[in-house]
Parts: sequence; structure tokens; C-alpha cells
Amino acid sequence: QEGYELWLDYKKIQDTTVKKKYASFLNNIELIGNSSTIQAIKDELQLARTGFEFENSDPSGNSKLIIGIQSNLPSSLKSQIDTENLGNEGYTITSLNNKETIVISGNSDVALLYGTFGLLREMQQKNDISNLNIEEKPKIQKRVLNHWDNLDRTVERGYAGFSIWDWHLLPELIKPEYKDYARANAAIGINGTVLTNVNSNALILTPHYIEKVKALAEVFRPYGIQVYLTARFSAPIELGDLDTADPLDEDVKKWWKNIADEIYSEIPDFGGFLVKADSEGQPGPFQYDRTHVDGANMLAEAVAPYDGIIMWRAFVYSEEDPDDRAKQAYDQFIPYDGKFADNVLVQVKNGAIDFQPREPFHPMFGAMPDTPLMMEFQITQEYLGFSSHLVFLPKLYEEVLDEDTFSDGENSPVAKVIDGTNSNKKLTGIAGVANIGTEKNWTGHPFGQANWYGFGRLAWDPYMDSKDIAKEWLKINFSNEENFVKPMTDLLIESREAVVNYMTPLGLHHIMATSHHYGPGPWVDDLGRPEWNPVYYHKADKNGIGFDRTSSGSDALSQYAKPIEEKYSSPETTPEKYLLWFHHLAWEYEMKNGKTLWDNIALHYQTGVEQVEEMQATWEEMEPYVNEREFEKTSMLLEIQLKEAKWWRDACLSYFQQFSNMELPEGVPEPE
Ligand code: GCU
Repeated sequence: QEGYELWLDYKKIQDTTVKKKYASFLNNIELIGNSSTIQAIKDELQLARTGFEFENSDPSGNSKLIIGIQSNLPSSLKSQIDTENLGNEGYTITSLNNKETIVISGNSDVALLYGTFGLLREMQQKNDISNLNIEEKPKIQKRVLNHWDNLDRTVERGYAGFSIWDWHLLPELIKPEYKDYARANAAIGINGTVLTNVNSNALILTPHYIEKVKALAEVFRPYGIQVYLTARFSAPIELGDLDTADPLDEDVKKWWKNIADEIYSEIPDFGGFLVKADSEGQPGPFQYDRTHVDGANMLAEAVAPYDGIIMWRAFVYSEEDPDDRAKQAYDQFIPYDGKFADNVLVQVKNGAIDFQPREPFHPMFGAMPDTPLMMEFQITQEYLGFSSHLVFLPKLYEEVLDEDTFSDGENSPVAKVIDGTNSNKKLTGIAGVANIGTEKNWTGHPFGQANWYGFGRLAWDPYMDSKDIAKEWLKINFSNEENFVKPMTDLLIESREAVVNYMTPLGLHHIMATSHHYGPGPWVDDLGRPEWNPVYYHKADKNGIGFDRTSSGSDALSQYAKPIEEKYSSPETTPEKYLLWFHHLAWEYEMKNGKTLWDNIALHYQTGVEQVEEMQATWEEMEPYVNEREFEKTSMLLEIQLKEAKWWRDACLSYFQQFSNMELPEGVPEPE
């Protein structure tokens, strides 16, 4: 079952010196405390010992690992460990007593669990553990996976099999996967999971299902993972109780309060609800002439007594305003800044359209200082080649998190908005739409795991370098040999730019085929709503290509802070990666390299294809470091990726060429 263990495959340690050193600590552990989380720590350490093959090595020397919350540590150690500023989840790993003792501490059992995973991560990478002084604390509070899993076990935009939640057999049958899922998430610091699709089914709120949800919550609890559900706004009607879902109606309020009471009586640490309302045909408050605030705050009131939260999504666009879909969420939400209840997070996708290979950051991140905004990334590759393409997404996430919003002067990156530093937000969160399914390795593509892993690491620390994440994952998963880690890190980092190049270079977006979003479809122009058609986004004609979002066009650019607006209002000063996102330009437009726009578009597509060829060549060299089956599987998938990169290039260039009427530049082959 290659890949099932994810990043918790504690592989045999070959180097005998390293092995002896590590074993001396793991074979002499004092674990202080008594709870299901402490038991989980004990189990994990046992698994590690078995995997690393420490079982038979002597507990030589005086080395010792002590794990306990600060207030429970032996008094000789207490004064040396300071956990005061670590909150509930932070931990320290410290070498003491002439480095003979390693102490993992924190203020809660879950912190100890995170610390234990932290130490094991060091060992999995074969790092030196002789003088540890690690202090870690998550920068974002709610670090949540969003499963777009339906009750019939299909997964919307899921490409790794069916839903791992086996509703039919729950609550009686507890699959081992549930615990392994919890372990894997806790190991990277994820502390919440929304079990159901944003396009939700009201049935999940009935006692029949709550019993099943409760069973999962019980498996996850020792691992510090809270369970959340999606709430269908029209549930009071659909479940047959009321004839309205008006958020200001007293019966409706009472109905949701009852639901909350029922859920919390079964699941006392239930996290709350995620809501997609008035978006893509989903019910919401608009039908009753109410606002997002009315809807969100009504639900917030129902869960507030239990410290629950509402994650209210800002992924909204309507056909009544066909001018520019990119502007709509901002227009709908900005007037309500500061009006949401304290336990509401507004959950915003990273860009204003929809999880494209590249989008500028969503302008809402720079414009709602008084509202806690939650980042929504997509881990599943809806628009990036599903689970057949190798694309390392932490590079994409990092790019978004690093972008300066200027919302609080210079150096106000998206990360600071999300982690609350910018306007001192009390509630913070980040969500990732999961890429998990029933495939034996959870994610289909063996490298899809890296995206789940990387999301978790960035959720814990949104300032982490994606390169460090790549290295960490590669070492843990395969090998820490330099000849493997170096080229493979480069491959992962470059894989993101490759997909941008062969799908949507220079700011192009949403030109994928209809509905499934797999493969190219820039020619589609006949769908029911204008903003569903790719032609709406690229606007190619004989005069040029691109979406004018400056003041001469839709003026979406004015939703950004002044320094961005000024810089991007002219094509000359717009970063070329966003050029056609903001400008409609002539095919002959001369770019920085002196070549025409048309030539540059063509060359980018070609570069994307060549990058995949390079990925293949690198991978071929990696055979000695990888197990045979994963090697073969990835090789075959890269073959698909290459074929499809060419498909993208040829399809897009032949389509656009009918407008540009220009020859392909040297080095770009004629489409077959
Ligand atoms: C995209 C995706 C849908 C999903 C929606 C959402 O449009 O294609 O499947 O429901 O995003 O995020 O709500």
C-alpha cells in the first residue's frame, strides 16, 4: 500500500550512529499525563519506534525524552521551560541536562502531541537533535480542511476516489482510515475538518446523521481536530418544519438554535457551520431581501453559546451583473465591513475568480479591516489537471500570502491579514478544499500528498518558505540524500510555473473546458450565462486579447489599494504574470523582452511543455531513491501531463492564432 502512511511512514533508519542517538531518546520516555491525547502520543511514539526499528537497540546512556505540560514537569525542569506565550497549541522542544534530556512541553495535551510530531519530523528528516531549542506556535487559529464530500460519497471536484466518510456504515463501523486521517492532520497542525460539501444537503443536520458525525468527532478529538458541517440555508423548509428560512424570522432563529443545541449535546466541541449562500443557485438570505450579515449573524447567534463559529463564504457572483464577475464579491461584502458578529469568519477564495493556476490576490483581503477574513485555498486540482498533473501548490499559496495588500500601509501582505496581525483580529482562519479520497494513497497522484502536507504547514505558519516545505516533504517521504532533495525541490517549485505556462500564461484565466474544467476550451461561447464562457475572460479578437480591468474597462482594479491600482493601471508597469488579467492588448504589443505579445504567449505555452519534459528527465534520474511502484506511477503520470501540456499549447495557440493572424515564433512547433 505505497503512500497510505502519508508523512507518517517511519522508515527504518539506516545510519547506525544516527539510529543509536535517536533510539536512546525514544527508548527512554517519560510521558506525563493521562488523557486520550496522551494515549495518542504514546501510540504514535510506539509506531515510530517500530518503524525506525529502535525496538532492539539498547537504551544506552542516560538519554531521556520527557513529555509533559509545563505545570506538570518535574520541578528541576519547570524553571527552564517557558511556555507562557505559547497559548494552547504551541510547544517547545528543548535539550537540557548536558543535552541528555529532551523535553517536549506546552500548555495542553494537544500541544504535546504537536510537539511529539515536531520531534518525529526532525527524526524523519535525519536532522541533528543534539541541541534542540524549538519553539513553535500556530499563527492562525482555525486551520481547517473543507471536504466537498456528498452524502452519497461522491466528491465534488474530487479526483482521488470516493469520500472516505462511509456514512452508510457509520456510526458502528469505525474504519482505521479515520484515525490515520486524524494522525496525518494533527502531524501538520490541522485542527478542524468540515465533513460535507459546500453545496450541502440538509439531511446532514438530522439526528440520523448527527450520530454518525459524532462517531467521527470521537475519533478525531484526541488529535485536537474539531468537526464542522455545512449548513444549507433552506434546511428549516427542506426538513419539513417551516415554510420560510428568513433569517429575521423568530421561528427560523429558534429552529437553528434547536439544531445547534441538538448537535452540541452530542458533540460538545463541535466547531460550527460553513455556509455557501446565494451563490451558484444555493439558497440564502437574498430571497427574503436580507443580507449576508443577517444570514451569518443569525447562525452565529445559534452557535455562540457553545463557542462555535460560522464560516460564511464570499464566493458569490450573479448573472444580473455581467460586467465583471471578478468585482462582485467585493461589491457585495465591503459595505458590511465591521457588521458581522464576533464569531463569524468571512471565507474568501484566494482570487476573485475561481482557483485558477494563477490569480492576483482577492481584493477583499485588502479592504475589510474590521472583519476577520478566512483564506480559502483549493488543494484539489479542479483547474490544474486534477490528480493526473504534478503541481506543487504551496508555491501558489505562498505567492498569494506574500502579496502586499497595502491595506495598512506598505508591508501588509495577505498573510498578515489572515493571521490577524494587520488589524489585530481576534478570530483567524484558513481553509483548504481537500484532495482526499478512497484511493489507497489518499490523493491519487503520489505528489498530491505534498499539497495536503504543504497546506497544513502554511496554515500553521503562513510565512514558511515553500521551498523549505518541499524539502521537508521530500526528505520525509523519500530520501534525504542531496542528489535527490536538490533536483526534486527545484522540480516541485518549478511545477507551478509550468502549469501556468501551458494552461494560462500571462494572466489568462478560466479558459478550461466547460463544467469539468479539464483540458482547454477557450473557444466556448454558448453557455447560458455570459460569465461561464471562456470567451468572456480572454476576450480575444483581431485587435488583441485580455480583460481590461482598468478604469477604461470594468475598473475592477480600483478595488485594490492605491499603490497597486496606480502600478497596474498601465501595462508597462503591471507584472507580466498578470498582464492579461488587467489589460486588453494588441497582438503586436511589445513586451519587455522586445518581442510581441503574440510571440510571448506562444513561447510561454512552449516553455510549459519543455518544463514538463525537464520534470520527466529529472524524475528518470530519481529511480534509486524511490520505491519501484511510486516511481513507475509517477513516470506514467508525467507522460500524461506531457501529452496534455502539448494539448493545451496546440489547442490554445491554434484557437488564438485565428485572431492574431501571426506566425508562430521560432521554437514553437506547428500544432499537430
Ligand atoms: C467552483 C466549483 C464548484 C464549487 C464552487 C464553490 O465553482 O466548480 O464545484 O461548488 O466553486 O466553491 O462553491
